Amino acid sequence: MKYGYFDDPLREYVITRPDTPLPWINYLGCQAYFGIISNTAGGYSFYRDARLRRITRYRYNNAPYDFGGRYLYLRDDASGEFWSPSWQPTRRSLEDYTCRHGMGYTIIRSKYQGIEASTRYFVPLDENLEIWQTTVTNHRSQAAELSVFSLIEFCLWDAQDDSTNFQRNFSIGEVEIEDGVIYHKTEYRERRDHFAFFACSEKTTGFDTQRDAFLGPYHGWENPAVVECGHSGNSVAHGWAPIGSHHVKLSLKPGESRQIVFVLGYQENARDQKFDPPDSQTLNKKAAKAVLTKYLVPCVADTSFEKLRRYWDELLGLCQVDTPDVHTNRMVNIWNAYQCMATFNMSRSASFFESGIGRGLGFRDSNQDLLGFVHMVPSRARERIVDLAATQLPTGGAYHQYQPLTKQGNNDIGSGFNDDPHWLILGVSAYIKETGDWSILDESVPFDNAPGSEKPLYEHLRRSFRYTLDRLGPHGLPLIGRADWNDCLNLNCFSDSPGQSFQTTTNKDGKVAESIFIAALFVHAGRELAKIASHRGLPAECASYLAEVSKMEATIRKHGWDGEWFLRAYDDFGRKVGSKECAEGKIFIETQGFCTLAGIGLEDGMAAKALEATSRLLATEHGIVLQQPAYSKYYLELGEISSYPPGYKENAGIFCHNNPWVIIGETRVGNGDAAHDYYTRINPSAREEISEVHRCEPYVYAQMIAGRDAPTHGEAKNSWLTGTAAWNYFAITQWILGIRTDFDGLRIAPVIPGGWSGFKATRKFRSTIYQIEVQRAGSGNQVSLEVDGKPVHGNLVPLPPPETKTVAVKATLR
Ligand code: BGC
Ligand code: NOJ
Repeated sequence: MKYGYFDDPLREYVITRPDTPLPWINYLGCQAYFGIISNTAGGYSFYRDARLRRITRYRYNNAPYDFGGRYLYLRDDASGEFWSPSWQPTRRSLEDYTCRHGMGYTIIRSKYQGIEASTRYFVPLDENLEIWQTTVTNHRSQAAELSVFSLIEFCLWDAQDDSTNFQRNFSIGEVEIEDGVIYHKTEYRERRDHFAFFACSEKTTGFDTQRDAFLGPYHGWENPAVVECGHSGNSVAHGWAPIGSHHVKLSLKPGESRQIVFVLGYQENARDQKFDPPDSQTLNKKAAKAVLTKYLVPCVADTSFEKLRRYWDELLGLCQVDTPDVHTNRMVNIWNAYQCMATFNMSRSASFFESGIGRGLGFRDSNQDLLGFVHMVPSRARERIVDLAATQLPTGGAYHQYQPLTKQGNNDIGSGFNDDPHWLILGVSAYIKETGDWSILDESVPFDNAPGSEKPLYEHLRRSFRYTLDRLGPHGLPLIGRADWNDCLNLNCFSDSPGQSFQTTTNKDGKVAESIFIAALFVHAGRELAKIASHRGLPAECASYLAEVSKMEATIRKHGWDGEWFLRAYDDFGRKVGSKECAEGKIFIETQGFCTLAGIGLEDGMAAKALEATSRLLATEHGIVLQQPAYSKYYLELGEISSYPPGYKENAGIFCHNNPWVIIGETRVGNGDAAHDYYTRINPSAREEISEVHRCEPYVYAQMIAGRDAPTHGEAKNSWLTGTAAWNYFAITQWILGIRTDFDGLRIAPVIPGGWSGFKATRKFRSTIYQIEVQRAGSGNQVSLEVDGKPVHGNLVPLPPPETKTVAVKATLR
């Protein structure tokens, strides 16, 4: 069953009924001002940091109720009837409801009793504000006397404090109202130098800024007293809960339309220019007023919307493919790339499943996110790499997370996740391969953000590699620390009290538990580092990295192989995890995926065996589960993984992030059919038809789909913010379609399904556009290349002379 459809030419998903199984969201903003918006206009906005600079309030634990958002109420002043054109919060039976989620914008349209309202929400490029462009049309045969009420609820900036510290917060709220513009300035009197403003292009007949005055006692958002009676209270918030609401009266003749522009913005003032006049406590509104004068004009809103569209045309235009599979095309060309931007911006901080108050940017997460993002805005990828590296510790370890606003490592979670450092190597290598910008290695970056500790980025990579060698366990495999990629495999935690963090509680000093996953990651990252060292003219260093890599590979073969598949780990007692010897959790996906992706066991058949076991024991119609059999009870020595009921999350859920590792593994053994089949099983577009089962948005990946042990097998959760986005983008574009960035050029090495006759693609790579045509002339993956009509040996397209605009590549598969 579907709740809408894809409009590919417009790059939109069109939701045709408001009661989706869960709120289906979109992101507004892609630089500094961000918002989440659901298909019923729920959600909130923030500046840079969802926790520390929250602009509007949201209520947690209320999905699928989804209250709190960018609301409008329309009121028929003749009858007193009122409704919300975005369905929430009044939930009337609307006609012709559609929500179009597009690239950085959302348009919600509906009709009620002959009155149509359509609102386009977006954040203009390079501005710290959002625009709601509302057009109201009277389709009745008589004139209509209408009232429009806008509504947002302000957050008192620090979203964590805002939702807990009521004894203070009920007394600090402050606003100013001038010329119908509502300014929210809580804490501006003291240490803050920023405020929010909410304005409207039409003349207002009233306003409200005090929530309880607007709602009335014991009323909810669905029936605010002010809307019921049709008159704003002109309330001024002193403490309690500041809101912003305008009241606009519209008289519309039959057939007449009127547009209203609302602008919600964020503004900072210089410390010495906070007040106007300077010796007063009145906000200096000069900068905000200038912005408003510009944007409260419908045609300016239109042109900034067109600019946003062009921005996305260009970004998505960097890589476009035309394959025989509509779901591949749609995801690569539109939604997967778009989701990669969201994960790059948000990491795992703000979605309908991530509260925005918990985590900042994750070290491993953000490095992996680069894989799907770096081709879009390499300069921002570079900046991110430098920020991440600055939270690395002198030991080579890293803060597991940092706050984007302060760029400081997050002390609550600390470090000790022993896989973390290697992702930096992969992030940097992806960046260099995409851009050819080797200078990033000489960028001077501190450790732990400590002034004076700066070293070239290259030194950071060296220490990342060294970190593992300094922490080897009894079998010569890497010690796992708090956890590796699987945050829930906590082999040193032994947590026995409710509420303890599985990630940070450690009662063992951990000199035994080893991770075969980190070993595979070490091999993969080590090879990348060796290539980087060789390019830097450091042959001895390169050789020493390769020697360590071979040693680790041999250790994996010796101590990391279970006979039919790769082991997962050794626990604190030196017992195997992920082995046929185990009662539960006999086989795990991570090592089957990452070992084969890293090319371990390609020559001797281990890789093929591991992939065969994966297909036999882990693959389901909804994707590949994380391990089997699921843990049926809590194991003190394994940690959080066994805390989940069977089939959910890391306990045998389909953890989509690691499915592409197996997909890449399948391409490495040359099995394009299996690779694309796995790709399709978790492709959200291919799952659109079963939206009642999948339940999350059909246009973006979810972190998890419930596994076969779960009563709700096939149900997705945690959509949007997941490493699944970048890894699937990477797997399909670079490994299945095989358009692979490399240090010395673009490689064309497709491993596509046997049934495909070929495909076409356009890929911009280091300022040249590659027009690629792949044709199948046999059933294998052997590539013959022709570049601009001339045969080229191997599968690497040599870099063309600088200034070359386009290169035509023809690849024949035999
Ligand atoms: C989740 C993991 C996540 C971890 C991060 C756990 O509860 O299951 O997926 O990585 O929290 O804090
Ligand atoms: C989500 C976390 O953000 C990520 O860092 C981790 O690798 C996976 N969960 C698996 O636990």
